[in-house]
Amino acid sequence: MSNGFKRRDFLRGAMAAGAATAVPFSLVEISFGMGSTPKAASAQDFTFAYISDSHLTHIKGAEFNDNFDKGLKRAVTELNFMDPKPDFVIYGGDLSQLGKREELDHGLEIMSGIRDLDVKWVIGEHDYYLDLGKYWQEEISGLYHSFDHKGVHFVILNSILTYDEWTHERWPTAMDRMKAMARLDNPEGSPFMVGKEQREWLKKDLAEVDKATPIVVLSHSPLYQVFRPWNFWTEDAAEVQKILQPFDRVNVLHGHVHQVMYNQIGSITFQAMMATAWPWPYPVSYAQHDNAVPKTTVLMNRADPHNLRDGTGWGAVDLVSGRETVHHTLWRNTNRTIAFDEEEGRPVDTKYQDPGNRIPPQDHY
Ligand SMILES: [Fe+2]
Ligand SMILES: [Fe+2]
Repeated sequence: MSNGFKRRDFLRGAMAAGAATAVPFSLVEISFGMGSTPKAASAQDFTFAYISDSHLTHIKGAEFNDNFDKGLKRAVTELNFMDPKPDFVIYGGDLSQLGKREELDHGLEIMSGIRDLDVKWVIGEHDYYLDLGKYWQEEISGLYHSFDHKGVHFVILNSILTYDEWTHERWPTAMDRMKAMARLDNPEGSPFMVGKEQREWLKKDLAEVDKATPIVVLSHSPLYQVFRPWNFWTEDAAEVQKILQPFDRVNVLHGHVHQVMYNQIGSITFQAMMATAWPWPYPVSYAQHDNAVPKTTVLMNRADPHNLRDGTGWGAVDLVSGRETVHHTLWRNTNRTIAFDEEEGRPVDTKYQDPGNRIPPQDHY
């Protein structure tokens, strides 16, 4: 690859990081069928890993933002130490900052350090709005598709599309469009959506799937509506949810919000995954607009800006009885595990849902 990246240097760094970082969590095998969901008897338990939102930023020539590089490299290194190994890896989108080929190539180079595992790719707005996904489709992945794994039906969606007029008619250059979509609180921005074409495809794709089959949907944005000025939002979320609701157990995993967030709407469980680049604050923390951070989410404590890795990380997801248990590996914060609670009928933090167990702000590491 180009950009002067030296694989040998990476491997040396990876070994050093590995020595300092014990395997981040133990994966607990729970036999299938223990819960109250015997209908999914054909599904098996398994684990997959999830890395997201690396925002690799090209500066010039072979120079990249070193902090963001380090986040992704660390996730790749720790992933290689997982024991037992996950079945595959999801990349949740925003591999690049401005969709440049240099950034996407650089991301592929770092991700190629993952040993012996298939990577499934979800596109983020930062990867898309420079060339509208052209290079991504040529070099990385299609934008939406489905696959089956051990009795679970997986759907990858491109949830960061927007109105045609905004995409095709408004911007003098492709980079103007990219920067407009990359910015928060931008009055010139435009809300994300899955769009009619994919919704029709999704209906057809799911028409052949038994309602008892567990479904895992992988999107970049949350498929519900939290906060529009930051696109923690999918404009046609209600229509997508309507297609998914008839299924008994639906899990939506997404990136984009760079923080712990989980929710339940009908039969659909939603969980956000960590960014390797930086943590966002919750919209409620300083914006005065209305927001809809799910009331049941136990918020992350504020990240310490003096610590570059605070509030960042990656995760692993156990699919048990078709329900997801998400293990967040938070590098300079306390790890969290969010699991579906059959009695509550929604995901709960296995430790911090109880207010008595909360860690006071500014005292979390
Ligand atoms: Fe992001
Ligand atoms: Fe994003």
